Formats: sequence, structure tokens, C-alpha cells
Amino acid sequence: MSFLEVKNIKKNFGNTEVLKDISFDMDKGQVVSVIGSSGSGKTTLLRCLNFLETPDSGSIRIKDELLFDSSVNTALSEKEIRKKRLHFGLVFQSFNLFPQYTAIDNICLAPSLLSKEDPSIDASAIRDRAYELLIQMGLSNRVDNYPHELSGGQQQRVAIARALALNPDILCFDEPTSALNPELTGEVLKVIRELADKKTTMIIVTHEMSFARDVSDIAIFMDKGVIVEQGPSKEIIDSPRLERTKQFLAYYR
Ligand SMILES: Nc1ncnc2c1ncn2[C@@H]1O[C@H](COP(=O)(O)OP(=O)(O)OP(=O)(O)O)[C@@H](O)[C@H]1O
Ligand SMILES: [Mg+2]
Repeated sequence: MSFLEVKNIKKNFGNTEVLKDISFDMDKGQVVSVIGSSGSGKTTLLRCLNFLETPDSGSIRIKDELLFDSSVNTALSEKEIRKKRLHFGLVFQSFNLFPQYTAIDNICLAPSLLSKEDPSIDASAIRDRAYELLIQMGLSNRVDNYPHELSGGQQQRVAIARALALNPDILCFDEPTSALNPELTGEVLKVIRELADKKTTMIIVTHEMSFARDVSDIAIFMDKGVIVEQGPSKEIIDSPRLERTKQFLAYYR
């Protein structure tokens, strides 16, 4: 059984079918990139995985746990949703750090709140772990800085550390470098590449085609709410089979 199994996910907004019948799976330690033009449903797919949207139908299974199944689910409480959401970490295009907290406090906030509900979390270790993550992100000299004192690339690296602090099974990125200039893009892609080298399981929505080709195992090409083509990233990006994929990739050549 795969680590993550996404089956027949559909999502409508009003009369618009945004996700039509999305199925894919991935193994632990794999990196999947999701590519496709604007409006194809990439963000909506990540939001469904993270319980920020509820699919209209389909199922999501992670490890042995059935996270979501439209045919059996009853209404979930906020607490149940928060628990399910912990399987995934999400890093947004626009960093979304809390402006009133320092870098390290941004990272500690969610684990500290969780430790109040869950006595198995060692509250005293949270800060040490946050510091470790900041070092891993190359930010040992930015621990006590506020977001407005950091460059976009630094803010995004804090956001990645913040997502990792909750030990998600899968780390998801929604265009993590789209708000950055090329110089800062490089430093963020570098830390994502290092995470891939450490076999961090990741789903990355990106327009950085050469990065997707080199770093991910699987590429998924979406268009108008469907997965048009999926497979090994080098095959999909270097030699797509289908005309729609070829047309899309031609913009990046
Ligand atoms: N909350 C919403 N209500 C209504 N329509 C929405 C909502 N969220 C997304 N949509 C629509 O769903 C479609 C897919 O949007 P989505 O943001 O998932 O695309 P995307 O592939 O992430 O695009 P981009 O590359 O521009 O980020 C778009 O037509 C969008 O307008
Ligand atoms: Mg999007």
C-alpha cells in the first residue's frame, strides 16, 4: 500500500468543477511536483489535502489511516480536523509568518499550543528543536528577528522551519518561490533540495521546471481540474507524451 493514496477527488465551487477526478499516490520519502497552468486546480488540491477545503467526493488515505472518505464521513469536529491536518505541513507562496512574533517564536507557537492539549509532547524541547530547524535553514543569526527584519527568502525559510516543527508526514509547498526574486529563489530551492536529499516526503506545486525535473521523483501535470499526465519527473518534463503537456512545457523552454 502506498504512503499516500488520493482517490477520485472532486471539488466544485458553485457550478465550477475545479477538481474533476484526481487520483495519485506516493511513497514515503518521495517528492512529487505538481505543475500546470493558472487555474488548473493545484492550490485547491493542496488545500483539500490540508483540510482547508472539503472535497465533494473521493478519499484520502495516509499510512494506514483513512483521513477522508466522502462515502463514510460524518461531520468532523474542529479538533478532529486539526488532528488530521497534522499529517501535512503547508508552506505558502506568501510566507504568512505572524508579524508580531520573532523567527523562533513563529516556529514554537503551534507546537506549544499542541503541547497543552497533548501531554506526550515535550514542551521543554520545543525551543531546542526550533533552534535546530533554524540552523538547518541557514538562519542561526536570525533567530530573534521579526519577519519585517528578514528578506523574503529568509522569511520563507522560517516558514519551512515552522511547517517542519510539527513533524508532518508530508510537507506541501504552494509555489514557494513565486514571490521571490531569482537570487532569493535559489536559497529557498537549496533548502528544499536538502530536504529532498534527506528523504523528506514532499508535494511541491511549482513553476520552476528544471527544479521539479531534478528534485522530484514524480511529476503531475494538471490542466482544467484533471491530471493529464503523471510519471517520473524527468520523463514528464523532458519528453511528455501528450500534446497538452507539450504545449504547457513549451512556455518554459
Ligand atoms: N474559494 C473559491 N471559490 C470559488 N472559486 C474558486 C475558489 N478557489 C479557487 N477557485 C477557482 O478554482 C479554480 C482553480 O483554482 P486554483 O487556485 O486551485 O488554481 P491553481 O492551479 O492553483 O492556479 P495558480 O497557478 O494561478 O495558483 C480557479 O478557476 C479559481 O478561480
Ligand atoms: Mg495556486
